[in-house]
Amino acid sequence: MDGRYAEEGRRERGTGLRARVHATGEPAETGPGDGRLVATYRAKLLEEIDLAEMSSLGTSERRDRLERVLGHILSREGPVLSSQQRALLIRRVVDEALGLGILEPLLEDPSITEIMVNGPDHIYVERSGRVERLPLRFASEEQLTQTIERIVSTVNRRVDESNPMVDARLPTGERVNVIIPPLSLSGATLTIRRFPRVYTLPELIGFGTLDEHLVMLLAGLVRAKFNIIVSGGTGSGKTTLLNALSGLIPGGERIVTVEDAAELQLQQDHVIRLESRPPNIEGKGEVTIRDLVRNSLRMRPDRIIVGEVRGGETLDMLQAMSTGHDGSLATVHANSAEDALMRLQTLASMSELHVPFEALRDQINSAVDVLVQLVRHPDGTRRLAEIAVLASHGREPFRIATLAEFRAEPMTQDGRVHGRFRHHPLPRSVAARLHLAGEQIPQAFGVHLDDSHLAIREAS
Ligand SMILES: Nc1ncnc2c1ncn2[C@@H]1O[C@H](COP(=O)(O)OP(=O)(O)OP(=O)(O)O)[C@@H](O)[C@H]1O
Ligand SMILES: [Mg+2]
Repeated sequence: MDGRYAEEGRRERGTGLRARVHATGEPAETGPGDGRLVATYRAKLLEEIDLAEMSSLGTSERRDRLERVLGHILSREGPVLSSQQRALLIRRVVDEALGLGILEPLLEDPSITEIMVNGPDHIYVERSGRVERLPLRFASEEQLTQTIERIVSTVNRRVDESNPMVDARLPTGERVNVIIPPLSLSGATLTIRRFPRVYTLPELIGFGTLDEHLVMLLAGLVRAKFNIIVSGGTGSGKTTLLNALSGLIPGGERIVTVEDAAELQLQQDHVIRLESRPPNIEGKGEVTIRDLVRNSLRMRPDRIIVGEVRGGETLDMLQAMSTGHDGSLATVHANSAEDALMRLQTLASMSELHVPFEALRDQINSAVDVLVQLVRHPDGTRRLAEIAVLASHGREPFRIATLAEFRAEPMTQDGRVHGRFRHHPLPRSVAARLHLAGEQIPQAFGVHLDDSHLAIREAS
């Protein structure tokens, strides 16, 4: 990706959620010159209120007070409005004046990648991969609930007892998850994930996530259209690596991406991005990842990229991978390469077609070529833990061979995880396929003269 362009994109999104919350939530217009009216009366309101007094009030009292003062101002010098317009204007002005409270400075801080609020008293953030607790709190559970309501209302969603869980991507890119009592026993819980930064492969090398030999190999595998599954735990950098790997796909290929929350930022021209949709407030209109994967097959893609497989769509994706959509990519949540295969099998079995377990193994053996396992170390570094190829066929139990792995050294005083990458000779079948596609075999790897010496492990 063009660095300058990425930088601009990030800057633009820096205060995205804030800007959005301040600008939305209203179903109708208060009249002509809408935005200006709000700004004018917000200024007048702030002139008339006593800030010291305001800070001693609870949230709902604060809102009441602001509404009352603004009501006086409007009666005194406001334009002529219908009662509905007047109520709407009051709400908008007061919303703007109240803002997102203590979350505002956190959302403005570019070094924060995640904000986690576990009830009114526990606020954590992630900075540079490390989670820290902040000495901040909401004045009350109610204040937290109101802040949450304001955030989710920007995407026309509602959170209440009958709808206690919301997962949404805001138009500005942040991913927001809310879960409230009685489902959450820790009080209303809000998680905001910043729009993930796009990192290039050289940047990832700089972070120690992988080395240049691994990048050479992965580049060859992507260009030679191996089907690749990126696997890792929560926040281990799956989406980030998927994005970087997607950048290696040659231009001119027709790529369809399918995601729950559109995070991928492909730079190629011929890309169609699909994003699933949750049901609306009446529970209608849902479009699942599965619907989209199925639909994408009818769009004549050269490659399909699935942001993350989590359910029955796994079967459709595997079928696509083994029927002419070579070079497809996806991520799955798993803690090891073995685990990833098991998980794919379990997820594929969640489709309504009751395919026997052995048949699913067949499907996976013929669809998946390479597993890239990521790990997030306790010191916050994200690292490639292993690149493995699937060496089993048909209904055989899974067998995998390691092409590369990270070997950690004993932890040193500085609390950081050190170690080095090991590169193993490639199986002949892999080397042959790379060769046929015109790809070099990276020197650090070399090729096995005789596959019977391959270190293969069983995974089921
Ligand atoms: N290699 C890396 N080095 C440093 N930071 C990284 C790396 N990869 C990802 N990150 C950062 O870690 C956070 C999580 O990254 P990402 O969204 O890619 O992880 P994920 O595994 O897809 O998460 P999830 O499980 O939520 O889907 C982001 O803030 C991202 O910028
Ligand atoms: Mg992800």
